[in-house]
This record gives sequence, structure tokens and C-alpha cells, in this order.
Amino acid sequence: MIAAEVQPEMSAASTFPPRRSLVPDVSIATPTTTSTSAAEPLADTRGVMVATNLEVHYGDQCAVRDVNLTIREHEITAFIGPSGCGKSTVLRCFNRMNDLVDGARVSGLLTYHGIDLYGPEVNAAQVRRRIGMVFQKPNPFPKSIYDNVAFGPRLAGIKKRAELDAIVESSLRGAALWDEVKSRLQTSGLGLSGGQQQRLCIARAIAVEPEVVLMDEPCSALDPIATARIEDLMHEMKSRYTIVIVTHNMQQAARVSDRTAFFSSESAASAEQVKNDRRTGVLVEFGRTQRMFSNPSDERTEQYITGRFG
Ligand SMILES: Nc1ncnc2c1ncn2[C@@H]1O[C@H](COP(=O)(O)OP(=O)(O)OP(=O)(O)O)[C@@H](O)[C@H]1O
Ligand SMILES: [Mg+2]
Repeated sequence: MIAAEVQPEMSAASTFPPRRSLVPDVSIATPTTTSTSAAEPLADTRGVMVATNLEVHYGDQCAVRDVNLTIREHEITAFIGPSGCGKSTVLRCFNRMNDLVDGARVSGLLTYHGIDLYGPEVNAAQVRRRIGMVFQKPNPFPKSIYDNVAFGPRLAGIKKRAELDAIVESSLRGAALWDEVKSRLQTSGLGLSGGQQQRLCIARAIAVEPEVVLMDEPCSALDPIATARIEDLMHEMKSRYTIVIVTHNMQQAARVSDRTAFFSSESAASAEQVKNDRRTGVLVEFGRTQRMFSNPSDERTEQYITGRFG
């Protein structure tokens, strides 16, 4: 079963924790507005998530290994690389979605504000409350626009209509969708265009005030205009959230991200490995996007970004 299919049920089954119960020493519930703007030089901001020798197996097959990187607050980090090199697999580790994938096993260390995300005391539902996810294919629930956005807050126990109204409006505004839907909040989310549906999914994700938003190819099902809207939106969201995006679109990575992680598949040791798709993904290079696209340090990165490989 893939994660995208199980997300709504997973959310429905979970109860929201009291704020700060996962990270008692860090205020993560109230997004700050102190981030660097696009025009400012990129400072080394605080690390939110740190992966150290992160590795994921499916059964006995190592899908990706040697992932060492830091996701910094109020930055957009892009994951790029050829198909099958483990980008989605790594992204799913970041909010423990791999817990829901049969046979997936995560090793190494992944911390969130210094806490081992896979530690025995950490509740995966709480993790997903703070680290939201938006998928490749827009997946609104078959409910009204209003109920899509109110879904998470209702699960969190918010019942007062006025409170829900305020959350729905601010989330839809935050996803740059409010003006387009404010007069039809009670109509089905499935009646929106693809680009609007994806912004609805972003509104649904931010309605529970996550700190980090993970996006797995959020624009791949969208036309260029809808894609541009989502990219603009990501720029706006950066001041409130930390974003990690998987993209196959190199221009998009260059346009939107502050840092880029380039993944690739290890050279296969045998033809059998290639035939059976048994190659392991590795993180080849991680750094500031501008530097990586102008002066990559690894030959494989250069070959990929210049279109000679992958
Ligand atoms: N649920 C699963 N069970 C078994 N193997 C899986 C599963 N999901 C992914 N894999 C394997 O793990 C490897 C990495 O897959 P992943 O989907 O993370 O790659 P990706 O870089 O996101 O690729 P794409 O760009 O095509 O989306 C691949 O070899 C894939 O076949
Ligand atoms: Mg993928």
C-alpha cells in the first residue's frame, strides 16, 4: 500500500496531542515571521531536521543509504535525482509515513529539534501533525472545501464554528485559494481544478499549523500556470514554514529552493541488479542550490543537471 493512499485514514485514526508534547523545549506551534526573504543572503539558519547515515530498506533490499543532511528552518530544500533513487522514500521518513509501508525499515538517525524521530517515546501521529505532507496527485477528500480544511482542526478537538471558520479562512488564504473559493466553501473539493485542488491540499496541510511541509512532486500533475502559482505560494509559505520538495523539474528546483540534495543510484555491481531494479540510492551531494547548479562538486551531479545522465 502506498503512503498516498493511506494518509486520510491515518489522519482520521490519530488524535492530536496537546501542543509541545513532542518537543517540549521548542515552540513549534506558532510559526515565526523572522525568516530571510528571497532577497537576503542565505544565512545558516537553525537546523530543524538532521539525517545522519539515514538508510531505508524494503524487505532485504536497501533502497537508499548514506543520507546525511540538515533541513534548515524557513528554507526550501529540494530533493532531485533520477527515478528510483529514493527521494520519496527519504521524504517519507521525515514524517514517519514509511511506518505505513509494508516491509519498510528505517535505520540511522533522524532528529527533529534534536529528538530522535524514531525513538520509542515518539508518537508517529504527533509527528505527522507537525510535519505535514502534500502528494504528487492532489487528493482532496470527497467532502466540501470547508470540510477538507476543517478536517484536521476538528480531529484536534476544535468544535466552535467561529474558530473553525477562522482557521478555514486563514488556511485558504495561506494557500492562495481564498479569493477563488470563498463564495463556494460548501461545494465539493473535487469540483476544483487540479491546481486549485493542490492548493486545497496545501490549505488542509497547513490548517493544523505544521512546522514542516513535505511536498512530493506537488506540481507534476499541473499545467505551467498552476505550477507557477504553487511556486509563488511556496515562496510566500517560506516565512512561516520549512519546506522540503521532491521535484523532477530542475528549473523548479533552481527557482524555488535554497538548498538541493542530489540523489542517485549507485552503479550496479551486476547486470542482475539492474534487471531486478536492485540498485541502492545514495545522497551524492547536498548544498546551496545556487552553488550546486553553477559549480557542483561531484561529477555525477554535473552530469545530471546538465542533462547528460538520468
Ligand atoms: N513500497 C515499496 N516496497 C518495495 N520497494 C519500494 C517501495 N517503494 C519504493 N520502493 C523501491 O525503493 C526505491 C526508491 O524508490 P522511491 O519511490 O523512493 O524513488 P524516487 O526517487 O522517489 O523515484 P521517482 O522519481 O520515480 O518517484 C526503488 O527501487 C523502489 O522500487
Ligand atoms: Mg518519488
